[in-house]
Amino acid sequence: MAKSTTQYICQSCGAVYAKWAGRCEGCGEWNTLTEESRTETPKALGGGPRGGRKIELVGLAGQSAAPPRMPTGISELDRVTGGGLVPGSALLVGGDPGIGKSTLLTQAAAALAGTGVSVAYISGEEAVAQVRLRAARLGLTDANVGLASATNLRDIAATLDDPNGPKVVIIDSIQTMYLDSLDSAPGSLSQVRACSHELIRLAKTRGFALFLVGHVTKEGSIAGPRVMEHMVDTVLYFEGERGHQFRILRAVKNRFGATDEIGVFEMTDGGLVEVANPSALFLAERRGNVSGSCVFAGMEGTRPVLVEIQALVATSGAGSPRRAVVGWDSGRLAMVLAVLEARCGLALAGNDVYLNVAGGLRIAEPAADLAVAAALMSSATGTPVPADVAVFGEIGLSGEVRPVSQADVRLKEAAKLGFAEALAPPRRKPRGKAGAAGKGDQSKTTEALRVREV
Ligand code: TYD
Ligand code: MG
Repeated sequence: MAKSTTQYICQSCGAVYAKWAGRCEGCGEWNTLTEESRTETPKALGGGPRGGRKIELVGLAGQSAAPPRMPTGISELDRVTGGGLVPGSALLVGGDPGIGKSTLLTQAAAALAGTGVSVAYISGEEAVAQVRLRAARLGLTDANVGLASATNLRDIAATLDDPNGPKVVIIDSIQTMYLDSLDSAPGSLSQVRACSHELIRLAKTRGFALFLVGHVTKEGSIAGPRVMEHMVDTVLYFEGERGHQFRILRAVKNRFGATDEIGVFEMTDGGLVEVANPSALFLAERRGNVSGSCVFAGMEGTRPVLVEIQALVATSGAGSPRRAVVGWDSGRLAMVLAVLEARCGLALAGNDVYLNVAGGLRIAEPAADLAVAAALMSSATGTPVPADVAVFGEIGLSGEVRPVSQADVRLKEAAKLGFAEALAPPRRKPRGKAGAAGKGDQSKTTEALRVREV
């Protein structure tokens, strides 16, 4: 019987189906299955090993040098990558179209070239003239970056497969690349996967650091870079709210560094500008003495970030009350509301509640609970939280405020930014020597700041 030569692949999660369906059973996304031709699958080895070479197993102990690094010259990018690019590694830079990926990588290319590294920027989206225009806008026309506009992976591979080739290669974007041996259209899952695989293999053999740009669309109409996440060493997401100048580069996977670091940039007429002190930026537009506003002393990776949390409790019209959250988890908001009602007697079940993290930052920490609760109570009662108070702490279901990590760093940052008081959870009992040393630090940091434990 002749086998069907087509299959349906979910462009979001990569699940394969023999028949088309409106909804992917794997990830639950709608309209993500597209028809692609069945690619050759390797035959199983069958029977015994044939022609394989014995591999040598070694012990865990033994010397391995830390991977060498190429600092990019953009310190926010270095922070997120864990100290610079690792030769032979692949980085995926994902983000919505228009968020600034090409801008960031053009600047990174120029900065790297400035440190003497040979860089190739291959654009499949824009013609050379357009890339040059952007470089001119960024004031980077003098940078020694090799530029090409190409989409055929066979040509690109032939160019890069060179021992004297570039040490950093930027592919903008992976969705425009295609391998002519596949029938599927560029941007389809098979193409994205095959092209990434080929480029990553080249990066490993030739030792260059590879940046792959990937667009993320909510509709899933372009192959989601999610399928590439396991193929690359590092996944960076470039995010930001439209209408805000801030752009945040976040590591969601990193084989060579921590994943909770963020890099903060500001998009200006002259390109992306690094923001060394995000707290000052996020608090810049704060108006003092209004109800429903509270400053949260948060942490992003190793760096403290103070942001304003805004809440609005409004009388609800007909129907079920609205809950709208920007920058925080809506489930977490529901929990804080429930605790406020059950433990503090603040019933907001009949009110509309809006919560916003000012500046477009997205907070994932439960440590923001207390600041959210303070903002909600402030709005509900019409009492402003004093402008020089910073708040942090996790709220438990029984209404208790729980200790959170890095209290010292948060307090230090608040003191540095001129806050006079902090509402903080009770301190953890010091454990062993490390804890005792930490305690010594604490008394120092709190000098400028009154810490009220709640
Ligand atoms: P771009 O890097 O092309 O986004 P992506 O590659 O992620 O699709 O940047 C797109 C936006 O950035 C565009 O709307 C214009 C804006 N921009 C600036 O504001 N300043 C600049 O210096 C540059 C180059 C772009
Ligand atoms: Mg682009």
